[in-house]
Amino acid sequence: MSHRIKDLIAIVGLVVALTGSERVLAADDTSLPRVTVLATGGTIAGSGSGGGIGYQAGKVSAQDLIGAVPGIDKLAQISAEQVSSIGSQDMNDTVWFTLARRIDDILGKGEADAIVITHGTDTMEETAFFLANVLKTDRPVVLVGSMRPSTAISADGPANLFEAVKAAASDSAKGRGVLVVLNDTIHAARAVQKTNTTSVQTFLSPNGGPVGFVDPASVGFVQPMPSRAKPYALPAEPSLPRVEIVYAHANMDAAAVEDAVKRGAKGIVLAGVGDGNASKAAIAALANAAKQGVVVIRASRVGSGFVNRNVEVDDDTLGFAVSLDLNPQKARILAQLLIANGVTDPRAVQEAVGRR
Ligand code: DGL
Repeated sequence: MSHRIKDLIAIVGLVVALTGSERVLAADDTSLPRVTVLATGGTIAGSGSGGGIGYQAGKVSAQDLIGAVPGIDKLAQISAEQVSSIGSQDMNDTVWFTLARRIDDILGKGEADAIVITHGTDTMEETAFFLANVLKTDRPVVLVGSMRPSTAISADGPANLFEAVKAAASDSAKGRGVLVVLNDTIHAARAVQKTNTTSVQTFLSPNGGPVGFVDPASVGFVQPMPSRAKPYALPAEPSLPRVEIVYAHANMDAAAVEDAVKRGAKGIVLAGVGDGNASKAAIAALANAAKQGVVVIRASRVGSGFVNRNVEVDDDTLGFAVSLDLNPQKARILAQLLIANGVTDPRAVQEAVGRR
């Protein structure tokens, strides 16, 4: 086939929307891995005017995102589906359940070799961690976003999307769990954290560093293959139990904890000071909640390090679990999945988080 005809097929492929689910095809080389892009919105799909700072997240379609990345059709055969068009501050159980079920469906039926999810960066680590705990697949699932909208000077979205597809299409990503790719680095779902409000180098894995690196020329992993835990079952309805995060601070009283219990929280995660600590009043209120069967996990607001058991707080006596390396927002998701699966005993919760 001549190059012109090949190019024409590739271009036609990019703009053909097949069904209501907006599938597009962006490559003609059937020997390439098949990657499905599931678009959810975020800054990577954001649009503003003339390189200024204002923009709206989730305005650019999956097809246009892919179409803006030169050379992406040389990496993989790409199909795309628009799952949602939201800023990730609005990410919710409905989109999470849709993503989880669609990914297991696509990969379970062998319709693709890997998945890339375009996503806002604000809650990307939460979606990654949720999926890491519920997906049945060991095929690569890579989340990607950008810190600058598509209309910004030096938009980082196209480069990040190129690298995410490159990582997802790589054999070495198989069995690595759910990954996050931004700014040349590859992170594991459990470890990754957004650490800067605006910098393109915002995603870090504070306790162990990235699991790998990717650039236009190569993909490499620098950490050993992780072991894989059994995925948690999802309830039939797209709704997870209510678990609240209570943020600790100086001069803290019991009100925030007591209010969470009154609102019907089945679990409370303490975003504690230091190694997951809080005032005597707050700890007493948490102990009271735990006595009533509320799952209590002590995490830390600090941003790195581990929260260990029974150091300053007597977890064994008070009925708490600790989050170890999980930040509060991830400990919350784990608590939701555990409660949804009937696991509320503090020892069993601790086993699920892990032990040091
Ligand atoms: N609203 C934010 C979000 O979708 C924008 C931040 C971003 O995507 O980088 O998460």
